[in-house]
Amino acid sequence: MTKKRVLSGVQPTGNLHIGNYLGAIRNWVELQPNYDNFFCVVDLHAITVPHNPATLAQDTYTIAALYLACGIDLNYSTIFVQSHVSAHSELAWLLNCVTPLNWLERMIQFKEKAIKQGENVSVGLLDYPILMAADILLYDADQVPVGEDQKQHLELTRDIAMRFNDKFGGEKNPIFKIPEPLIRQEGARIMSLADGTKKMSKSDPSPLSRISLLDSSDDIQKKIKKCKTDTIMGLNFANDRPECNNLLGLYGILTEKTKEEVILECSDMGWGKFKPLLTDAIINALTPIQTKYNEIMTDKNYLDSVLKEGKEKAESVANITLKRVKDALGYLIITS
Ligand code: AMP
Ligand code: TRP
Repeated sequence: MTKKRVLSGVQPTGNLHIGNYLGAIRNWVELQPNYDNFFCVVDLHAITVPHNPATLAQDTYTIAALYLACGIDLNYSTIFVQSHVSAHSELAWLLNCVTPLNWLERMIQFKEKAIKQGENVSVGLLDYPILMAADILLYDADQVPVGEDQKQHLELTRDIAMRFNDKFGGEKNPIFKIPEPLIRQEGARIMSLADGTKKMSKSDPSPLSRISLLDSSDDIQKKIKKCKTDTIMGLNFANDRPECNNLLGLYGILTEKTKEEVILECSDMGWGKFKPLLTDAIINALTPIQTKYNEIMTDKNYLDSVLKEGKEKAESVANITLKRVKDALGYLIITS
């Protein structure tokens, strides 16, 4: 039996944080033996907000190396760079022309990011979810493992695929496979260290709000020491204690303990006793990733060869889908 397909991606915008790891990449690693996996570095998405051309290539290497360092295994998975496979841009254009504008205007992430950009908001930012739909649909992905914040984009992808199938395919002859989001409850939404009601985010201006995967042990210790807490005695998962919920949750995931086990261990503690425990748990989880990352980054030739092979494998799948789409749309195709 052929394995089902998984596709997911992360933008090369700055370092990955522990929310990206727990919400997305750790799940990819766990799932990978059971699926045929494609993981891309979505560098075309990275320029939908102002970016720095001087660091884009290096940031792309960083994310690819982090995929490997976190445990993505090339025996199960293909790693590639989105801009290396031109079918992504091409399908995005074709999907643009069959997607109603108001479907995009409804996207929460667009509205949030657009506010930050003011007058300079680009057409690309509005179009971002269509490019994401193209990423997914090109590979006939069955499952798309992402964090909670991407759920609406996955629903849009499904809507676009169904609309396209209706218009140009037909029941017996669907052009696109309809993908399913794969959002695990645990870790799907890691909150900011500075405000337990806000998602941990790469774009938060304060680095104290997040733990990056490449933070030094000293930085981790400092950030946890300074992170926001509350003044209630004892620790628990009460709904009205966002910071406490987030930090206990983080500790539980990293030490592979259930909520009950965390409560049993920590409910009588104060922050002064709990914070060093959490610090150690984070350092223990990140140290092996950092060691492997440093190793990989010293060998750019190896990374290049991984990405070159990834591009070829990705292209061989994506180009078949693109041809199917062009056929369905009625394009003149000349075979050589
Ligand atoms: P991004 O940083 O927007 O490229 O996101 C990459 C992946 O990490 C996506 O699957 C997101 O859903 C996931 N992600 C981002 N931030 C968080 C967070 N704070 N908690 C859990 N998952 C997250
Ligand atoms: N929009 C996603 C994010 O910011 C990244 C992404 C782009 C993606 N294309 C994708 C995720 C395809 C999954 C599948 O997290």
